[in-house]
Amino acid sequence: MSDIANSLNTLQEQEQAESDKPPSYHPRLARTLRVAVIANVKGETELPIDAPADAGAEFDKRETIQAIQTAIESEGHTTLFLSGDANLPYTLRETSPDLCFNIAEGLGGDGREAQVPALLEMMRIPYTASRVLTSAVALDKTMTKRIWHEVGLPTAAFQEFITGNEPLNQNLYFPMFVKPAREGTGMGMDNGSIIYNEEELRLRVAWVINTYHQPALVEEYLPGREFTVAVMGRADAALYSRRPELYQADGFHRFPVLEVDNSISITPGVYGHHAKTLHAGENGYPGFTCPANTDPALAEYLCNLAIQGHNAIGAVDISRVDIRMDADGQPRLIEINTLPGLTPDFSDLCVIANAEGLSYTDLILEILYLGASRYNLVERTRQHELQPIRIQTAIPQFASA
Ligand SMILES: Nc1ncnc2c1ncn2[C@@H]1O[C@H](COP(=O)(O)OP(=O)(O)OP(=O)(O)O)[C@@H](O)[C@H]1O
Ligand SMILES: [Mg+2]
Repeated sequence: MSDIANSLNTLQEQEQAESDKPPSYHPRLARTLRVAVIANVKGETELPIDAPADAGAEFDKRETIQAIQTAIESEGHTTLFLSGDANLPYTLRETSPDLCFNIAEGLGGDGREAQVPALLEMMRIPYTASRVLTSAVALDKTMTKRIWHEVGLPTAAFQEFITGNEPLNQNLYFPMFVKPAREGTGMGMDNGSIIYNEEELRLRVAWVINTYHQPALVEEYLPGREFTVAVMGRADAALYSRRPELYQADGFHRFPVLEVDNSISITPGVYGHHAKTLHAGENGYPGFTCPANTDPALAEYLCNLAIQGHNAIGAVDISRVDIRMDADGQPRLIEINTLPGLTPDFSDLCVIANAEGLSYTDLILEILYLGASRYNLVERTRQHELQPIRIQTAIPQFASA
């Protein structure tokens, strides 16, 4: 019997055993919690002397942390902010939160987004969103692509350069795209990332390795439309949700797909670092359409691809997956963000939630409940039953887009 069938049986047995109790149709946190929001704050975190010019771009503003705290407090919980730095073991000991809402990027090293989850696991403190291994893999775009490739998910052909002197794989075709393997927020990416010959490639790869002190990832350039797809849930999400109607039978909520129009971007063709710092109305701000103007079958396929990409690396509860169409109009996974930005009205995930009328408070509380439920901190609803996962696996062909 499959694991899912097993867990279905166990739940049904539990349901029966509990049938003499009054039904609880509205899951809620089992008690009022003390929640620590853990983050790295822009401008308040010391960066290494040799850090690149765009270092720290992923860190959060105080206003974002405050917005998350306000959303959590709206349910009567108390909150505090803890900085995701080397003092964290001590501040956690002093404050003993019941649960951490983790958005910390971490500081340095090859798996920095995994640092806070690893510490919390060691201290046995519950926390939201993905765990240690997934956080490290998701930060590393090469590792993520290796896993996606292994499980048969479509991603652009690629090669990683560690020294920069490796022979170029002759099965890769120009134009190519060069980026740091372990950065986010478009760091190290602009029009110069698009490469037309080996001479340019060697220069750009050397620049990435020397500037970002990490491997350079070289991929075939994907010239087509760009989408970003938010993923929320897991097989049993509806049982612990304040908004169970959001989740489909496989336990995932399909957010509307967001399309990014890079033709008007400050870095045309690339949603790079500069474009990611601009606000609506500013010159060079890319176009955003949500829901994307696509064939519904394509939108559904993109959502399912994103869910498969999320599951393949063991992500839980929330992520955002970037996808682009290749020269033949077929979608290819670019990368996954297991700590998607949560700046109200600005971060892609918040724009997507707004577009479907999901309030910021509801978004934050869904992430909180999904995390808390993994530590038995949420009273379960009996309204929805677990369903076996049904995700389309065959890859349909889409007309060139
Ligand atoms: N292989 C590729 N072909 C074409 N464009 C690409 C490719 N890889 C990345 N890009 C462009 O560069 C942008 C940033 O790349 P990517 O998503 O890998 O970086 P990131 O900094 O991790 O992004 P995020 O801010 O979402 O964390 C993409 O949104 C896309 O516009
Ligand atoms: Mg991206």
